Amino acid sequence: MEGLAAQHTLTGQTPANLRIHHLPDAIDNDLALVREGLFSTQPWLHPRFFYDTRGSALFDAITGTPEYYPTRTEAAIFARHLDDMLRWVAARKVLIEPGSGSCEKAQALLQDKKLTHYAPMEISREYLMDCCARLAQQSPDLTIDAICGDFVSCNALPDTVPAEGRLVFFPGSTIGNFDPEHARSLLENFHSLAATSSDGYLLIGTDLPKERSVLEAAYNDSQGLTARFNRNMLSHLNDRLDCEFVPEDYQHKAFYNDRLGRIEMHLVCQRDTPVRIGQEQTTLPAGQSIHTENSYKYQPEAFRRLASSAGFEPVDCWTDDNHWFAVHLLKAG
Ligand code: AVJ
Repeated sequence: MEGLAAQHTLTGQTPANLRIHHLPDAIDNDLALVREGLFSTQPWLHPRFFYDTRGSALFDAITGTPEYYPTRTEAAIFARHLDDMLRWVAARKVLIEPGSGSCEKAQALLQDKKLTHYAPMEISREYLMDCCARLAQQSPDLTIDAICGDFVSCNALPDTVPAEGRLVFFPGSTIGNFDPEHARSLLENFHSLAATSSDGYLLIGTDLPKERSVLEAAYNDSQGLTARFNRNMLSHLNDRLDCEFVPEDYQHKAFYNDRLGRIEMHLVCQRDTPVRIGQEQTTLPAGQSIHTENSYKYQPEAFRRLASSAGFEPVDCWTDDNHWFAVHLLKAG
């Protein structure tokens, strides 16, 4: 995986400004989740299984392709409106980032020295440790509470994270991975994370509906990185759980479902292919697809309605000239 995010093994001691927390391990439920999805009428696998170290690095590489506009468009919105955003951020103390990945997006906000705490939350453990160890060394004045685990099941933080002045940061349109009911309950969780004082906020990025050709190209990049990212889910499951897929037997497929306003990603069996999950053995027939991801695209108004139903009050919304992506600021308190 040359050219992708550098990988370091953490040796030596943890920097003094970095604390590491572990949410209860979901590993026992993971095999059950794979089984539940695979034996459904339309087989599916949960998108969180994309993210092992290799998957996270592949995702970072996708964000650099010419076709994948969301990351770069969102970054441009941040660059252009940073002063505006920092005016809100200025009064906050703690930045909480569910699904922090490389922790890179938080850097711009963390420039504001009033943010004294950073609490990234990430399921890809080694990746989180690695990024936080580097960040802690670079920013000795910042206190980092790194939280390893699945942010979906988290509605309270370790009590080392101050309750006052929390800003939950959820960029990248990750909210689009959840269908609307789950998105709402996730927003409710974020609300409980932010509303520990009366000045809690949420800053969240959402991808917008747009021309089909632009959307579909973004999920079918010409270097085939999205295809590798999609198939890597199966290698990740093989490596980590008691199951066996044959990743080479599957082909990447991604298309825009305009009725439901979402990109769907699937892995389509190219031939009859054996699958073993624990003790159970089955064969998926050629042509069968496994649904691996949805990526919902929300009009700003529709997203505000969804967030309001989770208890948030819209404060501001920034977008780019093409109206391809939006960043919403919402108040929890
Ligand atoms: C990280 C969930 C925002 O849905 O666009 C990128 C993941 N999937 N290419 C997205 C992804 C395929 C991405 N999110």
